[in-house]
Amino acid sequence: MCGIIGIVGNQAVSPRLIDSLKRLEYRGYDSAGIATIEGGKVERRRAKGKIRALEDKLLSEPLSGLVGIGHTRWATHGVPNERNAHPHTAGRVTLVHNGIIENFAELKASLIHQGRVFESDTDTEVIAHLIDRQLGLGDSPIAALKNTLDQLTGAFALAVLVAGENNQIMGARRGSPLVVGHGVGEMFIGSDALAVGPFTNKISYLDEGDFVVIDHDRAQIFDAEGTAVDRPIKIVSASAALVEKGNYRHFMEKEIHEQPESCQRTLGAYVDALTSRAIPTEGLDFASVERIQIVACGTASYAAQIARYLFEQLADLPCDVEIASEFRYRQPALRATTLAVAVSQSGETADTLAALRWCKAGGLRTAALVNSHESTMAREADFLWPTHAGPEIGVASTKAFTAQITALTALAVTAAVQRGRIDAAEETRLVKVLLEAPRLIAASLQTEDAVRSLAIDTAKARDVLYLGRGPMFPMAMEGALKLKEISYIHAEGYAAGELKHGPIALVDESTPVIIIAPQDSFFEKTASNMSEVIARGGRVILFTDEAGAAHAPQGARVVIAPSSDPLITPLIMSAPIQMLAYFVAVQKGADVDQPRNLAKSVTVE
Ligand code: M6R
Repeated sequence: MCGIIGIVGNQAVSPRLIDSLKRLEYRGYDSAGIATIEGGKVERRRAKGKIRALEDKLLSEPLSGLVGIGHTRWATHGVPNERNAHPHTAGRVTLVHNGIIENFAELKASLIHQGRVFESDTDTEVIAHLIDRQLGLGDSPIAALKNTLDQLTGAFALAVLVAGENNQIMGARRGSPLVVGHGVGEMFIGSDALAVGPFTNKISYLDEGDFVVIDHDRAQIFDAEGTAVDRPIKIVSASAALVEKGNYRHFMEKEIHEQPESCQRTLGAYVDALTSRAIPTEGLDFASVERIQIVACGTASYAAQIARYLFEQLADLPCDVEIASEFRYRQPALRATTLAVAVSQSGETADTLAALRWCKAGGLRTAALVNSHESTMAREADFLWPTHAGPEIGVASTKAFTAQITALTALAVTAAVQRGRIDAAEETRLVKVLLEAPRLIAASLQTEDAVRSLAIDTAKARDVLYLGRGPMFPMAMEGALKLKEISYIHAEGYAAGELKHGPIALVDESTPVIIIAPQDSFFEKTASNMSEVIARGGRVILFTDEAGAAHAPQGARVVIAPSSDPLITPLIMSAPIQMLAYFVAVQKGADVDQPRNLAKSVTVE
């Protein structure tokens, strides 16, 4: 969602703020703005739309100054326009905000009653007014911030400039992430390590409730009670190269192609290639777990649904997967012997985090399977299960998805071992199968030309149906999600067996039906569904393997991925399905990496 950067620097800050905002683009936004302070005076520039529009504005109305804040806004309160774009100003205070102030309406009413005039429709503006009011009451800037934070309900991260305070920026985090970057004679705050990546790799992660003031040389950090605290400085590895597109046209394309390596890196944390054994999680014995409850959103929830088959079949371990936004309000009946698992690329998704916290508060042991290893989920869960996909910039999740499946598959093998469901020989066999996955994913990327040739026709469709059985059912839902989020074509993922119970009514010659069916125990049944579609004039596109292709019905267009053990088939089928969505979006001229209305990390409900 919204991105934040703040720089107390010793060179012109505008170009650096813009550079950083470009790194935050991946989070999703619909307007952007910056403010700088010079000679005690704060000035701001804001623009609707892309950062390019803001750059154009800065060309005609440049901002000088060495200290400034910047923001990419993903609209929640108030339409995306210049008036609602951040930074927002009230009196001496100018600030940017990520998150939602839940009690903004009552605060705003009270401020209006006191004679304050608002210029935007945002919830953010109340924060600026509250801080300015506290300053007017004689508070120091940091006291004004603290007293304001105490009045706010909701989730947020902030960066604040105060007119007259030339060499400092204040920040705060509650619910939304904020990091402090340590430079040489310069300090930074930002939404994540990528935001401050061009300037420093020395990062302190603020804890929940922390607030901070940075100047040229140091960060003074306070906890929610206002007590000065130290947060360790970590050296992060998010090198610039990882967030460049290289020779690829889009980040999504690059990330699809990175999957052999990201799978390999992730495997390294869960299986030992030398001994061919699974690596147990320190302090966790799956034999003591009676049930797994996975909570996740979007793509992460589909990865979890694929894993459910494995935990149950391989390890005989009951596993429920629920969308976090439903789970958190359902008051599910949980037991202390259940292990709660949050699956998330960002580790910051508001609903998943809330569900994880709910489980923790209920006394459950918790694990976070996350790609951002310093994220809130990573820090709050009892066990950290990292994925090693590296920074994922494209809004459409690709390499994070396969890294999640990789880690969960390996964990299912560990669970099977610890629960005595497989012997050492079978463990070795399964680990060897897993270790083949990177090579086979690379081979499945070779379907690129075949997939590209399907894009022209698919791009003309208004609706697309995806069908699969068993673990290919969540794959079908993931394929449909990928297509709709980046190409804006309506798509549905269905269990193939459900076709006759409704969706078959949609089948006609203009609706492509994409069937994901490698040769496995479900194949024959899915083949019958294919015939049913073709008999009704439907256009079948079959994603399968060599053996499945031999049984493809006449008239079907076929993409042949490498054959694999069923344990890793979801990993091998992913790249062709992702590439189809990618090529269709390119064919339609869509904004692949930053699709409309979407945010990379959904940090509000
Ligand atoms: O960061 P998370 O994995 O928790 O994000 C969950 C979803 O928001 C995310 O997977 C979303 O569905 C992606 N845009 C899908 O491509």
